[in-house]
Amino acid sequence: MFEMMVGADYSGKVVFVAGGTSGINLGIAEAYASAGAKLAVLSRSPERVSEAVTRLSNDAETCIGFAADVRDRPAVDKAFADAAEALGPIDIVVSGAAGNFIVEAADISANGFKTVVDIDLVGTFNVFHASLPHLRKPGASLIAISAPQGARPQFGQVHVCAAKAGVNMVVRCLALEWGPLGIRVNGISPGLVGGTEGQKRLFTSEEQEARFIRDLPLGRLGKNDDIAAAAIYLSSDSANFVNGVILDCDGGLSLAEGGYSFRSALS
Ligand code: HXC
Ligand code: NAP
Repeated sequence: MFEMMVGADYSGKVVFVAGGTSGINLGIAEAYASAGAKLAVLSRSPERVSEAVTRLSNDAETCIGFAADVRDRPAVDKAFADAAEALGPIDIVVSGAAGNFIVEAADISANGFKTVVDIDLVGTFNVFHASLPHLRKPGASLIAISAPQGARPQFGQVHVCAAKAGVNMVVRCLALEWGPLGIRVNGISPGLVGGTEGQKRLFTSEEQEARFIRDLPLGRLGKNDDIAAAAIYLSSDSANFVNGVILDCDGGLSLAEGGYSFRSALS
C-alpha cells in the first residue's frame, strides 16, 4: 500500500481514474484513496471493476466503479455524469487505459494499429472531454498516463508510439485551452514498472530484461508507488503552476541516447 507523502491530504477530493482497475493506474487510485479521496474507477471488465471497488473502499469513504470502454463515448459521458452526481464535482481525472503488444510495423494489421490508437489516444481525449462539464472549476487537475514511446521511436511499437505521442499533444493542447478555466492538464511518462502487464508484454526473456535493467541509470525498474507519487504531486497545490508538462518518471531511462529498443524481443 502506498505510503502517503508528507502533506498529501486529499480528504474530500473526488478522483476519477479511467483504467484504474489494475497495474499502475490501480496503484495511483490506491494512493489517492490512502490520502483520503473519494474514488471512481472505470474499465471494461465488470469483475476487475468490482474487485477494485472492494479494494479501494477499504481505504476511501466512497468508491464507485463503471464497467465501460474508453472508446465508447456515450458510456464515458454517462460514467462522468453518474460519478459527479454520486460524489460531487470532480477534482482530479487520471486517464490511463491503454493497450500494447510488440509487432513489427510491416506485420501489424490496420485494425491492430487503429485499436491501440483508439484506446490510448481517442480514449484519453474521450475521458478528458467527457469530464469537462463535471470538473471543479477552477481547481481541477487532469493527468494522462503516457509512456516513453510518446517521445521517441521504439522498435515494434509504431502503434503505441503514435498513440502516446498523440496523448502528449492532447495534454499540451488542453493545458493551453483549459488553463484559463483554472484546469491544469499534465502527463506522466513512466519508465518500465515491474510486475505490470506492460512489463510482461515487452520483455520476452530474462536475458533481455537483465540487459535492459543494467542499462538503466538508476539500475532498477519502476514501482507502482513511484508513479503514484508523481500523480499525487502533479495534482497537489505544490504543482499549482505546473501546466502542460509530460513528467518523465523513469529513473533516467529516457536519457539513454536513442532510447531503449525492444528489437531483441522480436528476434
Ligand atoms: C499483433 C495484435 C496483437 C498482437 C491484438 N492484435 N494483439 N496484432 N500482435 N499481439 C490485433 C488483432 O489481431 C486485431 O486486429 C486488433 O489488434 C484488435 O484486437 P482485439 O483483440 O479485437 O482488441 P481488443 O479486444 O479491443 O483488445 C485490445 C488489445 C488487448 C490491445 C489488443 O491486448 C488489450 O485489451 N490490452 C489491454 C491491456 C494492456 O495491453 N496493458 C498493457 C499496457 S502497457 P485484426 O486485424 O486481426 O482484426 C502500455 C505501454 C507500456 O500501454 C510502455 C512501457 C514502457
Ligand atoms: P494494465 O495493468 O494492463 O492496466 C490497463 C488498465 O486499463 C486496466 O485496468 C484495463 O482494465 C484498462 N483498460 C484497457 N483497455 C481499456 C479500454 N478500452 N477501456 C477502458 N479501460 C481499459 O497496464 P499497466 O502496465 O499497468 O499500464 C498502465 C498505464 O501505464 C498505461 O497507460 C500504459 O501505457 C502506461 N505505461 C505502463 C508502463 C509499464 O511498465 N507497465 C510503462 C509506461 C507507461 P480492463 O481490462 O478491465 O479494461
